Amino acid sequence: MAQKIIIDTDPGQDDAVAILLALASNELQVLGITAVAGNVPLAQTQLNARKIVELAGRPDVPVFAGCERPLSRNLVTAEHVHGKTGLDGIELPEPAVQVQAEHGVDFIVRTLREEDAGSVTLVPIGPLTNIAEAFRRAPDIIERVQQIVLMGGAYFEVGNITPAAEFNIYVDPEAAAEVFASGIPLVVLPLDVTHSALTSADWVKHMAALPNRCGPAVAGWTDFFERFDKEKYGSLGAPLHDPCTIAWILQPDLFKGRHINVEIETTGRFTTGMTVADWWRVSDRAPNALFLREVDRDGLFALLSDRIARLP
Ligand code: RIB
Ligand code: CA
Repeated sequence: MAQKIIIDTDPGQDDAVAILLALASNELQVLGITAVAGNVPLAQTQLNARKIVELAGRPDVPVFAGCERPLSRNLVTAEHVHGKTGLDGIELPEPAVQVQAEHGVDFIVRTLREEDAGSVTLVPIGPLTNIAEAFRRAPDIIERVQQIVLMGGAYFEVGNITPAAEFNIYVDPEAAAEVFASGIPLVVLPLDVTHSALTSADWVKHMAALPNRCGPAVAGWTDFFERFDKEKYGSLGAPLHDPCTIAWILQPDLFKGRHINVEIETTGRFTTGMTVADWWRVSDRAPNALFLREVDRDGLFALLSDRIARLP
């Protein structure tokens, strides 16, 4: 039986690779994709999500528009990283597939009520606004969520949007705090592990040479996306943050981490959005997350190569 997932996303080139990986993997059943404002505004993230499902030849996967701004803050976007469209790096045609009329948050609530309890995993790879809003509107669904596998946060790697905070958490720290306090089993892929998931020039060339349309698309996106991290960190490639969530679901043994307490700072003058990870277990706060720190990079890229090659 395929694992049922909902991907909540703010595409974003790395989101796009994560979505392609999921759609290429028959171990997974993607029940729907809900767009959220993040890297770029919602109008763009929902358009990008539709472009991606069409590129993958999967117009059957419904795309929903969710929240257009954080729960209580103004939106912060990341065009400086992802470009004006959020998917800079290649041109994709206007998609024929339309956005669903149902709000993304209502889709999350309805799906969790309709599917068997404990059978659906949520995979947020952008700000956590849609997820927190769903739990606010329908607290009854919280106990029905199987687990949440999210990209966000940082501890040893510290911040990428402020000195203390990672982007997804920083954009909506109140939403993140409510999700991390929900009691749902959490698997967190922070910058601590995703900064090791770096593309290489050879791997990008391999993608570009694949005899399909998705391989060259991944090459174009990563070529564009790597600029920010090369300039900021001196990285040798683009960090594939969001695909680490799907890869963990498919092959968890590629990753290593600890089950620890992680709290979200929401009021720090300099630290708002920080994931305060009790890696050394110095507090008596109860563990609430599997916080990952290591990845078998070669194994991850072998998985990506195998699956992207299966797409159109
Ligand atoms: O900090 C990295 C995260 O922020 C990724 O999800 C990327 O897509 C951006 O949303
Ligand atoms: Ca993202």
